[in-house]
Amino acid sequence: MFKFKIRWTLAFSSIEELEEHFALKNTAIVPSSFGKILWVKFEDGYHAFKNKCPHQNKPMDHCWIDGGDLVCPFHRFHFSIENGRGMATSMYKYEVKIEDDKVWLGKEVLGLSFGLKLKRVN
Ligand code: FES
Repeated sequence: MFKFKIRWTLAFSSIEELEEHFALKNTAIVPSSFGKILWVKFEDGYHAFKNKCPHQNKPMDHCWIDGGDLVCPFHRFHFSIENGRGMATSMYKYEVKIEDDKVWLGKEVLGLSFGLKLKRVN
């Protein structure tokens, strides 16, 4: 049986390290093991997106925030920071969690689950 699960990777060893990437803007492009990530610092915390606009796969490097939306610099499509949704298409949004000051990035992956339970035999 196939099941979706989250594969986590350590993105930053501290919040301070993440904060260093936000110079004068509330967005930052940072490479990771999942590729280039568009980090967004918004009212409710940090958000992470694949750094590709789904309209024409162009990089979002010079995007900006308008209300609760990210705006693509090429054709000005808007995408919700909350869920990545736009008018007709969506940006891929990663999971973000902070534990013990470490910042983790999560990607949904499809994995096999056989439902097997291991029993210890002495
Ligand atoms: S490439 Fe982003 S709106 Fe067209």
